[in-house]
Amino acid sequence: MKIVVIGGTGLIGSKTVERLRKKGHDVLAASPNSGVDTITGKGVAEALAGAEVVIDLANSPSFEDKAVLEFFQTSGRNLLKAGAGVKHHIALSIVGMERLQGSGYMRAKMAQEQLIKGSGIPYTIVHSTQFHEFMAGIAQSNTVGQTVRLSPAYLQPIASDDVADVMAEVALAAPVNGTIEIGGPEKIRLTDIVTRLFKATHDPRQVTADPHARYFGVELDDTSLVAGAKARLGKIRFDDWLSQQPPQKKSA
Ligand SMILES: NC(=O)c1ccc[n+]([C@@H]2O[C@H](COP(=O)([O-])OP(=O)(O)OC[C@H]3O[C@@H](n4cnc5c(N)ncnc54)[C@H](OP(=O)(O)O)[C@@H]3O)[C@@H](O)[C@H]2O)c1
Repeated sequence: MKIVVIGGTGLIGSKTVERLRKKGHDVLAASPNSGVDTITGKGVAEALAGAEVVIDLANSPSFEDKAVLEFFQTSGRNLLKAGAGVKHHIALSIVGMERLQGSGYMRAKMAQEQLIKGSGIPYTIVHSTQFHEFMAGIAQSNTVGQTVRLSPAYLQPIASDDVADVMAEVALAAPVNGTIEIGGPEKIRLTDIVTRLFKATHDPRQVTADPHARYFGVELDDTSLVAGAKARLGKIRFDDWLSQQPPQKKSA
């Protein structure tokens, strides 16, 4: 079966491609680096020719409100237009996206989902919690000088390997024409996650808890980013993942 993975060179994309190739499928890892650009449309029709399944794992190079909205709208439209004959369109979105529409990034994901739902193409949307690998990015986006001001709200972080397992499984299953949720094995406060990350990586920045600190534009509560009771849970705990990362040099 021909499967096209848009963003097939990215974090989740590359791991999903690897899993599906191991199962013997004809998988195209599509991205601007391989001549497929969903913004300009270059190479998209050729990439999708004969594909039964499209998995959209692209991400916007910019998280700025207007840029990210334009990215997911333009990319979604181009992909769905070229993929009108596809039997299953799959996209990865975010747990709590609909609750957090004060965030420009979440509005962009909503726009992406609405395009998929209105396309008439059979689809599955996977809502995931935040990846373990994304925690450093969250810390960075809330850093001023040596201080990282963060909401102490719960997150339910999940390893990219667990996410890719689900994406590969969904690609080989029938479309649900709806949304499924996945999350990590445990809830941890964002401030605790980043404190553990900094300890493991010898990062000298100070973590400060502030319930009003924004997460990509919105305040969080303890349920905002946590998966529902029916969510499928990954196996890899944050601390176990952290202990498997290459050692970091202590800064002088
Ligand atoms: N971060 C989280 O915790 C989280 C949680 C839930 C859901 N998600 C969603 O998961 C998805 C994948 O995230 P990720 O972290 O795996 O992404 P990533 O590592 O940043 O990879 C992004 C991919 O998008 C490709 N891309 C960028 N511009 C493109 C274009 N114009 N046309 C085609 N491909 C393009 C990149 O290709 P190049 O390598 O060629 O640049 C790359 O392969 C995103 O949609 C995100 O919203 C993320």
